[in-house]
Amino acid sequence: MGGTNPYIKDPEVKLPTQKFIVRVENANKVIEVDPSKIPYGDTGLPGSLLDILLHAGVEMDHACGGVCACATCHVYVKQGAETCSSVEEAENDMLDMAPDLKTGSRLACQCVPSGEADISIEIPSWNRNYAREGN
Ligand code: FES
Repeated sequence: MGGTNPYIKDPEVKLPTQKFIVRVENANKVIEVDPSKIPYGDTGLPGSLLDILLHAGVEMDHACGGVCACATCHVYVKQGAETCSSVEEAENDMLDMAPDLKTGSRLACQCVPSGEADISIEIPSWNRNYAREGN
């Protein structure tokens, strides 16, 4: 499932122009992101962490299909957050419903890295069962 949410305005994002790395610390996964292949799929904002994770075989939960309507794609951005799209009001509203909020909490479907730095993320423990390593 994918698509856009007609009730919210897409955030302004700066898509990457150079390759960068997304590390998923607690899934032992290192993903090289190739900007020429973005979007990888049609789930979450193009180039979002969710788009990147799903393409890399990390099966993050994304109950609403990546349209900022569920908070099940909650991740912690531990490094490189300053190069990610900013948190818009709609994402903030959804994060208010997510358990275990911390500094760096983002919805993977709304967080788009610019590629100006490598990113490290952690998947919350309550969502860890959903994260499976793929190819
Ligand atoms: S997948 Fe539902 S908010 Fe991200």
